[in-house]
Amino acid sequence: RLELTQLFREAKAYGGKTVTVCGWIRTLRSSKALGFIELNDGSCFKNLQVVFQDGQVGNFKEITKLNVGTALSVEGEVVLTPEAKQPLEIHAASISVEGTSSPEYPLQKKRHSMEYLRTIAHLRPRANTFNAAFRVRSVAAFALHRFFNENGFVYAHTPIITGSDCEGAGEMFHITTLDAENPPRTEDGQVDYSKDFFGKKTSLTVSGQLNAESMALAFGKVYTFGPTFRAENSNTPRHAAEFWMLEPEIAFADLNDNMDLAEAMLKYAIRYVLDNCPDEMAFFNNFFDKGLIERLEGVASADFARCTYTEAIELLEKNKDQFEFPVFWGCDLQTEHERYLTEKVFQKPVFVTDYPKEIKAFYMRINDDGKTVAACDLLVPGIGEIIGGSQREERLDVLTARMAELGLAEEDYEWYLDLRRFGGTKHAGYGLGFERLIMYITGIPNIRDVLPFPRTAGSAEF
Ligand code: 4AD
Ligand code: MG
Repeated sequence: RLELTQLFREAKAYGGKTVTVCGWIRTLRSSKALGFIELNDGSCFKNLQVVFQDGQVGNFKEITKLNVGTALSVEGEVVLTPEAKQPLEIHAASISVEGTSSPEYPLQKKRHSMEYLRTIAHLRPRANTFNAAFRVRSVAAFALHRFFNENGFVYAHTPIITGSDCEGAGEMFHITTLDAENPPRTEDGQVDYSKDFFGKKTSLTVSGQLNAESMALAFGKVYTFGPTFRAENSNTPRHAAEFWMLEPEIAFADLNDNMDLAEAMLKYAIRYVLDNCPDEMAFFNNFFDKGLIERLEGVASADFARCTYTEAIELLEKNKDQFEFPVFWGCDLQTEHERYLTEKVFQKPVFVTDYPKEIKAFYMRINDDGKTVAACDLLVPGIGEIIGGSQREERLDVLTARMAELGLAEEDYEWYLDLRRFGGTKHAGYGLGFERLIMYITGIPNIRDVLPFPRTAGSAEF
C-alpha cells in the first residue's frame, strides 16, 4: 500500500505506474458510466481524486452507491494532471470495500458547527479542521522536543501524582483510594489520609516545576512535557481541566536568560510548523484567519516586546474606562488587560515582568525592591497568557520566610528546600501552555477544539 503523502511527494516518479492506495471516501459523485471519489488516507491533508469507470472496475454500480466515510482499497494507474488543482489522479482498475459506512454518518460534506463537532469527538479527527489541528499539534510537539534536544536539554519525566501544590492555588484534583462514603477518620473527625494508599493526601499535578528544579540542579538544563490538571472552575475558551504543559528549567540562569530561551523556543516551533505543515496552515489561513501565516512569519522573525508589570499598569490606567475589571498597581491582570497590552499597545508577543509578589507563587525570586518578584508572563495577541515563568528564589532564608508568610508548612517542602541547602544556585524556568500555543498557531479560538478529547468543567466524555 502506498501512502498518499508519499504519492504526492514524488508525484512525477509515479506517473504511469500502477499503485494500491487505501483511504476513506470524503465525497463521491457519479454519472451513468463514470464516477469520482475524493479519497483521504490521513497521511496528509490532501485528498486524492479516484476516477472509476463502468467496464474498468467490475463493481461500478456497487461503488456508486457507497456512502461517505467508507474505507476503500484502490488499485489503479497514476495519471499526472499538471493543469489541474491536484498534480495527479488515479484511474481505478479495481476498488474493494474494506469497511462500509451509512447515510447516518455524521460528517457529510456540509459545514458543521464546532459545538456540534464536539459532541462527536470520536469522529471529528476526520473533519478537515481537526485533522489539520491535531497534525499541527503533533508536529509542534515534535518541534519542541527537537528544539530542546538540539540545545542540549535533558527530557525529564516528572510525576503525575503528587503530594505538593506547586502553584499554591488549591486548584487540585485529589485522588484517594479511601471509601468515599465511609472514610477512616481521625479522633477530631477529619478524613485520615495516613490510611490512604500513599499514607498522605495526594493529587494530580498542576505543574512539574518543583521536580524539574531538582533535575535542573543535576543536569543544568532540563524540560518536562506532559499532562497537567487544574480544577479551575472557569468556563472560558482558554482553560481546560487537563492540558499539556512544557516546562524548561535552567541552572545558572536569570530572568533574562529565561525569556531569551522562551522566545527562541517559540520562534523555532512556529517556523517548524510553517515549514512542515504548509497544507494545514494554508487551510487555517483560508478558513479561520486570513492574516495568520503572514503574522506568524512576522512573529518568527522579529523581537518580542518586554515591559515591567509597573509599566503595563501605567499603560492600562490610561485606558481604564475600556475595561470591565479595575486596573491598579497590585491587581492581577485579567484576560482583557492582557489582550489590550499585546493587541493594542505592542501588537506582538510581549513579556510582562516583575509582578507584585502577592499575586504570584511562593517560589518566585523576590526583587531588591521587596515588593515584586522576578516573574515573566508571555502574552500573545488573540489569547493573552501562554507562558508563565520566573527566576526561582534560591536563598533559603528568603524562601522559608516567604513560605511562612503564606502559611506553607516547611515539612511538606523539605526536599525542595534541600535544593537550596546543597549547591543551590540561581535558576529559572517557565511553563508553556501547549494548547494555547496550538490555538495561537492555528487561529482556532477555543481550547476544546485543539485537544482531541477535551476535559473541561462538567465534560469528560469520550
Ligand atoms: O502560569 P502557570 O500557572 O505556571 C506554572 O504552573 C509554573 N509552575 C510553570 C513553570 O514556571 N514551570 O501555568 C503555565 C501556563 C500558562 O501560562 C498557561 O498557558 C497554561 O500553563 N495554563 C493552562 N492552559 C490550559 N488550561 C488551564 N487551565 C491552564 N492553566 C495554565
Ligand atoms: Mg500564570
